[in-house]
Amino acid sequence: MNETQLPKDPFEYKSLSKRNPIRIAHKIQAELLEYWSALTFKRAELPIKLPSESCQESLEFDREDTAVTDEHMSLLLDCIKETNSLGEPVAEIGAFRGVTSAMLAARTERIYYIIDPYAGYGGAETDLTRQRSRTASLPNISFHRTTSGQFLRDHRDLAISFAFIDAVHDFANVWFDGSSWSQRLVPGGLIAFHDTDANEFSGARTAVTKLLRSSRGSLTLFAHIKNLTVLQRAN
Ligand SMILES: C[S@@+](CC[C@H](N)C(=O)[O-])C[C@H]1O[C@@H](n2cnc3c(N)ncnc32)[C@H](O)[C@@H]1O
Repeated sequence: MNETQLPKDPFEYKSLSKRNPIRIAHKIQAELLEYWSALTFKRAELPIKLPSESCQESLEFDREDTAVTDEHMSLLLDCIKETNSLGEPVAEIGAFRGVTSAMLAARTERIYYIIDPYAGYGGAETDLTRQRSRTASLPNISFHRTTSGQFLRDHRDLAISFAFIDAVHDFANVWFDGSSWSQRLVPGGLIAFHDTDANEFSGARTAVTKLLRSSRGSLTLFAHIKNLTVLQRAN
């Protein structure tokens, strides 16, 4: 998939009026894709794969403010470690209260982009306040109050070493985020997807599996534990 073949950003339809036929058609298509994802949920399952080296540190983070579990955090820290030598920035798409952002950004010197609009799709003004106070002391954080798609359009030449995709968990959004951000990975770079094995987010699993299977070997499975799948850009 090259830049011109990338799917359209689902958030771009939100600028159209709710009665606009293009917006209505997109909504119907998105709902059909969710239905199809639920039907093919089992078929889209990826094998469990543990990372070759795993983070051994004891983890201190506020479990009340994130859905990321200890196992997920440990694997995300492995991803930071694995990509530290690459040098290009890290991006977290959807940061909510910034618990994961603070944990990961503290363990790298790379620029750590936080991209989140805090516009009512899972993140609100109070969540933004918590994110900002949690990450205030980290000099490598670069916060962008915008959507994933808008950030990508504003940074057309940006290459990254690691992306954590954790925004809207339906097929249309995960397919867009996965296709777009995986294009920005340098060789050896990683892209992690949250909530890939939950029935209520079947679209997230279908999108990640389709991304891997349609990549013709340019992406490989780096690690997969329940509800966290990590792909690697081939060298
Ligand atoms: C599940 S939470 C993120 C949790 C966070 N990564 C963590 O580890 O605790 C989802 C976040 O995605 C944000 N979001 C929704 N749509 C988005 C978009 N198009 N681009 C980026 N972020 C988005 C929401 O505002 C919300 O804060």
